[in-house]
Amino acid sequence: MNTSTILQAETNTDTFPINGTDYVEFYVGNAKQTTLFYQHCFGFELIAYKGPETGSRDVVSYVLQQGKIRFVITSSLNPDHEILKHVAKHGDGVKVLALWVDNAEEAYHKAIERGAESAFEPLKIEDEHGYVKLASIKTYGETVHTLVERSHYKGAFMPGFIAKKSLAPVKSLGFKYVDHCVGNVELGDMNKWVKFYEEVLGFKLLVTFDDKDISTDYTALMSKVVSNGNGYIKFPINEPADGKKKSQIEEYLDFYKGAGVQHIAIACDDIVHTVESLRNNGIEFLYVPDNYYDTVLERVGTIKEDLQELKRMNILVDRDEEGYLLQIFTKPLMDRPTVFFEIIERHGAKSFGKGNFKALFEAIEREQELRGNL
Ligand code: FE2
Repeated sequence: MNTSTILQAETNTDTFPINGTDYVEFYVGNAKQTTLFYQHCFGFELIAYKGPETGSRDVVSYVLQQGKIRFVITSSLNPDHEILKHVAKHGDGVKVLALWVDNAEEAYHKAIERGAESAFEPLKIEDEHGYVKLASIKTYGETVHTLVERSHYKGAFMPGFIAKKSLAPVKSLGFKYVDHCVGNVELGDMNKWVKFYEEVLGFKLLVTFDDKDISTDYTALMSKVVSNGNGYIKFPINEPADGKKKSQIEEYLDFYKGAGVQHIAIACDDIVHTVESLRNNGIEFLYVPDNYYDTVLERVGTIKEDLQELKRMNILVDRDEEGYLLQIFTKPLMDRPTVFFEIIERHGAKSFGKGNFKALFEAIEREQELRGNL
């Protein structure tokens, strides 16, 4: 098969309709402080909370929103709770990629019939604002997909939470929606998880990258991207491939202690402004040398943006048959070299920046080297 060709899904084969990402939930050691970080460094507004004051004795969660993106930041007060066991093993990381569905019970049973493993069975929770139905299935590592049916709910987030606003003003950085969420899995497991998304959720294989597309002197990886019918859910799955030294995927797996979410790509429509704000707020990005910009326009052709501005912000450009995209990657946001964010602005392109892989992986390797992990 021709690699890195974007295949158009001719028919929608979804096992059940998915309207988008409902929320991304992080399990962390200190939810209170992490919440402040996402408010004042990333521009997310606090919208809801649960904790001891609301009757949740063991678990605290803060819900943050920007555009259509919801992050739930969760920790526990109880060292024996599975949340803190998760944090002890993986460090701060992504536990839940929640999917917004029309009928959680039906979606869950269809997924189970097709071979999904249950994380929890369907349940209905309600308060004075209505009800939400939830169910959850397992995916790679200890990550889960919680299925959220919320058409009969009018409250801030879901029953159990109270509305709560940011105490200090938060400046939106223009994040719109979750573009894609990438998982790293162990060597040999990529096809197993691609098959899971194809067979259980009815997703289509969108694109394949092999080690000829993605390799430098040291590192190599394989990647396949699966997507649902409407394209709102895109999950690239990476596995390490043999290189001369330890690949970035192996470094992740070593520190995360297994498979998990590697990065979340969030879309914006004024990336220069967004990245400038993030930099002013102290967020660090992977660095690509200035000479990248000497030849980039030869590769991608005409773009609307001022190249000098992109260079000043170190933003990368790539093009496919349908248009171009602008992208940049933060350094890991956790103490361990695990989860990071991609900031992406699409101008027609539906791909993932293949033309930047080499420059990016060399940038990642420079960081691995500094950490003593290459
Ligand atoms: Fe990405």
